[in-house]
Amino acid sequence: MTKHILILPGDGIGPEITAEALKVLECVKARFGLAVEFDQALVGGSAIDAHGVPLPDETLDKARGADAILLGAVGGPKWDSLDMAIRPEKGLLGLRSGLQLFGNLRPAILYPQLAAASTLKPEVVSGLDILIVRELTGGIYFGQPRGVRTLENGERQGYNTYVYSESEIRRIGKVAFEAARKRGGKLCSVDKANVLEVTVLWREIMQEMAKDYPDVELSHMYVDNAAMQLVRAPKQFDVMVTGNMFGDILSDAAAMLTGSIGMLPSASLDENGKGMYEPCHGSAPDIAGQGIANPLATILSAAMMLRYSLAENEAADAIEAAVSRVLDQGLRTADIQSEGCQRVSTREMGDAVVAALA
Ligand code: NAI
Ligand code: MG
Repeated sequence: MTKHILILPGDGIGPEITAEALKVLECVKARFGLAVEFDQALVGGSAIDAHGVPLPDETLDKARGADAILLGAVGGPKWDSLDMAIRPEKGLLGLRSGLQLFGNLRPAILYPQLAAASTLKPEVVSGLDILIVRELTGGIYFGQPRGVRTLENGERQGYNTYVYSESEIRRIGKVAFEAARKRGGKLCSVDKANVLEVTVLWREIMQEMAKDYPDVELSHMYVDNAAMQLVRAPKQFDVMVTGNMFGDILSDAAAMLTGSIGMLPSASLDENGKGMYEPCHGSAPDIAGQGIANPLATILSAAMMLRYSLAENEAADAIEAAVSRVLDQGLRTADIQSEGCQRVSTREMGDAVVAALA
């Protein structure tokens, strides 16, 4: 059955980088005989310019009907003066909540060719390849009640609620166990079970689930130690799973171990494995329209899409190998430029990946 992929270029560098990813997808489609079709729609600033809203109904409908979505990026100073409710970023949040994309996958991979980009010692990070699975639609960021109130004595008090239900924990656990099964077979669940009851339940449920995944080795770690271990010896991890807030912090820290925002893909999945795939970086308005943005994070997001939503592992592997090959060839966009390497444009980088696939 033909799978439908919706491409949402967005704005800023979004259209430039998604164009290269689409080129790469067309190439693997031909090479591996994939039964996929591509469609496009507007989101973010481009949708505001055309329709006055960041997420037109037509786009949300197309997103609902698609098997997977590839997003560029949204946002920029052009729209910053607008009301919060109609800013480009709202388009993204609307997609995440509208499609119930609760499972956020953030790989942190350090390509050996770019080892110099990391702030950590080469022996600590070389060969780094970890995946953080973050719960994205629950936990303390969404828990009720929340707010700021004034107490009887006149003092103001801010409060949020950290809550996870069993079904929420199970569904993110499933994403993490399945991902660990497809990778190195190791899963570390991060919690604060020595202090927070909600994470005692989290830990219990992960242990229960482990019985269904005898091929995955489950371990547990407190979040403060996990933060420490991530910068001390990050290669001890394969897959990490954690709640919304801990995952927000740990995944940004892990991303920076690799030192290059232009290289990092991400996925946000729903219960059925449908997902939205996007680079970790934003719309880079400072370099938009110049043809110098790094398209590799978006190309690698397309590879994740093939692996996680379409089960086309061979095509995904081929894209990742092709990216590694162009780095071996010494081709670099400006953000990952280093001495002795050849500086290329966005389009030249996309062309090089296509050539490496052939
Ligand atoms: P940003 O990630 O867009 O840019 C940060 C820096 O990294 C800039 O100097 C930029 O030129 C550079 N950069 C980013 N991606 C690059 C690439 N592919 N190649 C080369 N250089 C790259 O973050 P910033 O500046 O904080 O935000 C800009 C806009 O993007 C804002 O409106 C923000 O709200 C939005 N944003 C959107 C996201 C999304 O669409 N998922 C995520 C983060 C920010
Ligand atoms: Mg964050």
